[in-house]
Amino acid sequence: MTAHASRGMEDANVLIIGGLGFLGSNLAHRLVASGARVTLFDACLDPYGWNYANITEIARDVEVVVADTRNFEAVCVHVADKDLIFNFAAQVSHSLSMERPCTDIEINCRGNMNVLEACRRLNDGVTILFAGTRSETGEAQYLPVDEDHPDNPSDIYSINKLAAEKYHLMYHHVYGMPTTVIRVGNTYGPRHQMKHGQYGVLNYFIRRAMLDEPILIYGDGEQIREYCYVDDVCDAFYRAAQTPKSIGEYFVIGSGEPVKFIEMANRVLRAVGKGSLIHTPYPEGREKIDVQKFFVANDKISEYLGWHPTITLKEGLEKTVAFYQTRLMEYI
Ligand SMILES: NC(=O)c1ccc[n+]([C@@H]2O[C@H](COP(=O)([O-])OP(=O)(O)OC[C@H]3O[C@@H](n4cnc5c(N)ncnc54)[C@H](O)[C@@H]3O)[C@@H](O)[C@H]2O)c1
Repeated sequence: MTAHASRGMEDANVLIIGGLGFLGSNLAHRLVASGARVTLFDACLDPYGWNYANITEIARDVEVVVADTRNFEAVCVHVADKDLIFNFAAQVSHSLSMERPCTDIEINCRGNMNVLEACRRLNDGVTILFAGTRSETGEAQYLPVDEDHPDNPSDIYSINKLAAEKYHLMYHHVYGMPTTVIRVGNTYGPRHQMKHGQYGVLNYFIRRAMLDEPILIYGDGEQIREYCYVDDVCDAFYRAAQTPKSIGEYFVIGSGEPVKFIEMANRVLRAVGKGSLIHTPYPEGREKIDVQKFFVANDKISEYLGWHPTITLKEGLEKTVAFYQTRLMEYI
């Protein structure tokens, strides 16, 4: 059991890699409120979700380090004294990974290997929580997808995330390091970037509707997905970090509320109160990497961590729209 696990989050020395982004900054709010000492490590790379507006409320309570996981020495400096590391930095766009595969390998494989190697050499007792992605599974062979489902990822991002996930679990298996993986599904909520729709499409749709710009639906929109509210996702990581039983495990999580893509878009329009939809053919190459039907079983994470999704899509959309109604200009 690591030191922080026995004493909760108060005074835990926590590093969030990718901490200025969407998941990292939302989790930082929760950790600061719990009394943790939080350092945010982020390379501030475009077109990703880093934004100083994400930490407005906690700017005085966190340390920010602008550094890149591809720089091994920089990683070493910041992992050595930590109790807990949330490893969230990533090249996160499926389509960009196809356009720039080597950048994806550099960030999603080499960057993660740097984090693990730095920890192995300097702080091998540190608890590391890695954010995997549902797209490591690829097209579902059965539903709901669980932790026993085989993996057949359909794009470069998802293949490299799967490699990084395996690195984390291997470092537990071979070196006994306390690592845990949570495979995150489509997540939305306050503090997601809205500059473009390369990833995080639900948030991008909210922007389009708020600005009265039409929302483009590729194909018929019949794909089935789950959309998890960010506080629920952060809660899963928070619980995993405090629960020794999660060490060496991987979990899938979802909202428990599968919906058609077109239904999600219509619900965005209703939550915003304006906007419109336009159907359009898929851009070249996009359809082949788009999974048709996906939702997961939360049984394992619920058994191990007592985690359940608590926010419905309706409630989550209302909260998200309320956030951007006052802060939209900081995100577009
Ligand atoms: N949000 C989702 O729907 C979702 C779904 C599945 C998985 N994930 C995973 O969750 C993690 C966080 O994603 P997010 O939604 O917060 O994305 P985000 O783009 O908001 O945040 C990622 C952050 O990582 C930083 N970053 C990128 N490369 C870096 C590097 N080499 N060194 C240091 N910092 C770097 C970026 O500047 C950005 O601030 C990622 O690992 C992603 O794969 C997210």
